[in-house]
Amino acid sequence: MRILVTGGAGFIGSNFVSAMARDRPDAVLTVLDSLTYAGSRASLSAIDGSIDFVEGDIVDARLVNRLVSDADVVVHFAAESHNDNSLVDPLPFLQTNIVGTYTLLQAVRHHDVRYHHVSTDEVYGDLELDDPAKFTELTPYNPSSPYSSTKAASDMLVRAWVRSFGVRATLSNCSNNYGPYQHVEKFIPRQITNILTGVRPKLYGAGKNVRDWIHVEDHNAAVWRILEAGEIGRTYLIGADGELDNLSVVRMILELMDKAPDDFDHVADRAGHDLRYAIDSSTLRNELGWQPRYNDFRSGLQATINWYRDNPTWWANDKDAVELRYQVQGA
Ligand code: NAD
Ligand code: TYD
Repeated sequence: MRILVTGGAGFIGSNFVSAMARDRPDAVLTVLDSLTYAGSRASLSAIDGSIDFVEGDIVDARLVNRLVSDADVVVHFAAESHNDNSLVDPLPFLQTNIVGTYTLLQAVRHHDVRYHHVSTDEVYGDLELDDPAKFTELTPYNPSSPYSSTKAASDMLVRAWVRSFGVRATLSNCSNNYGPYQHVEKFIPRQITNILTGVRPKLYGAGKNVRDWIHVEDHNAAVWRILEAGEIGRTYLIGADGELDNLSVVRMILELMDKAPDDFDHVADRAGHDLRYAIDSSTLRNELGWQPRYNDFRSGLQATINWYRDNPTWWANDKDAVELRYQVQGA
């Protein structure tokens, strides 16, 4: 099977490609990634010999057409992915997340190639903190941020291309991922690398916001399961029942890194900050038999801390620029 992976030098995409190279040696893997600030060739260095890497933009229709014509399957991870950046400069989000997805859809339509669209639970907006409800496949879209609204738009394009043009696509909407190779701008790696560089963790507002954490390997196993057995046109929600408020996560990181529980700073809250995400993944579990394997968040977090401690050369070059950006935002 020839698989084209967009965004394969990013956090989730690089973990996906590495898992494929490890578990499916018969797969022929091509990565298309424009290496924005969030992409890194180093994330793929261990499997360099087993993949084809193409540096290019998913908005480039000629390039995309050529690569798609050589593929049996496209797995689309490429995106501008950070909410905070989308509040400062939304345009790249519209370009990559909407026009980029459109470009891929036209190519898979033209060449009749199977397509999987990787998306986020943030398209559903947020839930109240004290509400037992979770997102399901039937929850109406209600995105809050420029990031989530562009992901919602891209999901809508996929659904329209399935219905109008018979594109053979599936979609998945996953909750917050953690694990190795996540950019230091994101919550968990930012706090770990802050402590490793002698800086106090930074908590937005009171830290009551809840995220539903899932290990990146569990997300990617679900994506693969959907590719194997998912029904064309369907959306699957991916989550591992990992709800935690941000304060608890910061406290756990501090504890696992031998710091005092209050050794962090409260900083300015994010504009429009979504309160709570929570996923009901029973469809995926019941229909496709997927189960998360990383059920102990604490030990997954410890392994992630160890990874950042052991791989400073992977993240150190980005850290100063990221913190400078946050400083300007008062965060
Ligand atoms: P990331 O920011 O770490 O990686 C994105 C990758 O896409 C980078 O390698 C970047 O260079 C590449 N890219 C960006 N614009 C491009 C363009 N125009 N052309 C080609 N490549 C381009 O993101 P991530 O966290 O790995 O997220 C991957 C996907 O998963 C995204 O679609 C995101 O919306 C979705 N998702 C992420 C999470 C999460 O917790 N991180 C949760 C659910 C869904
Ligand atoms: P983030 O990793 O940006 O993911 P998302 O916005 O997609 O959920 O942030 C996760 C949560 O952590 C979110 O509620 C914002 C919060 N947060 C902080 O409290 N401090 C930080 O330094 C960052 C980056 C995020």
